[in-house]
Amino acid sequence: MTLVKMKEILAHAEENNYGVGAFSVANMEMVIGAVRAAEELRSPLILQIAEVRLKHSPLHLIGPLMVAAAKKANVPVAVHFDHGLTAGKIREALEIGFSSIMYDSSHHPLEKNIAETKKMVKLACGYGATVEAEIGQVGGSEDGSVDMEILLTSTEEAKRFALETEIDALAIAIGNAHGMYKGKPQLRMDRLSEINDVVSIPLVLHGGSGISEEDFRACIKYGIRKINVATATFNHVVQMVNGQAPFNQYFSYHESVIEAATENIKRHMHMFESVGRV
Ligand code: 13P
Repeated sequence: MTLVKMKEILAHAEENNYGVGAFSVANMEMVIGAVRAAEELRSPLILQIAEVRLKHSPLHLIGPLMVAAAKKANVPVAVHFDHGLTAGKIREALEIGFSSIMYDSSHHPLEKNIAETKKMVKLACGYGATVEAEIGQVGGSEDGSVDMEILLTSTEEAKRFALETEIDALAIAIGNAHGMYKGKPQLRMDRLSEINDVVSIPLVLHGGSGISEEDFRACIKYGIRKINVATATFNHVVQMVNGQAPFNQYFSYHESVIEAATENIKRHMHMFESVGRV
């Protein structure tokens, strides 16, 4: 158990046909809540934070906390640096002990995305860490600051990208978007299935907040192994805390944040069928 490489978690999910949640955290309470959910449900866990969130949760503080929580957990936990944008921060995360990184160069044309991703694979390799990268464009943006349009991943490009970069997991765009969906998500299962037929590494679905259980199950059937969830947990924490305010003491607020994170993460673990796997 304890801190493991993300690729080990994904390999088990691949062998046994289930999905693993990668849950974004912003503070100690959310880290405690995520680990509590995983331990209570005997589920593997991926704890993650994205580079754009470091303005709220500095890496030198939240990073060691995430790694320490993973090491103490009695289920396998990977600590993942989500949407890494700069080599400097990726290196810092690896130095802290993150067992996995995502390098996001998906806004560049294919050739440049391949070339830049290869450099990060080399860097992460020196630390024995798992590497995820993206091709195509997931809609919205990680912190809601821009609204990127969705550019579906091309099957041929996905195949080439995975082979040439030698990454361990591939994030794809099939109609998924970060943040809450404006209408019902329209996921292209046909494209996902085509990509799954030609790409042998585990596939990653970003923008998990607001996708239905039925769609999650279909995505898992067609090869999605890692599912990112951020907004749903942040929103659930705010709703639960607001619902219980006013607090007459700080520590009941503190416990509510932990409970809200645990509750939302457990709900997703059930949908991803990762419960009872460890
Ligand atoms: P959501 O905020 O839509 O859940 O997306 C999370 C995500 O994909 C993080 O990379």
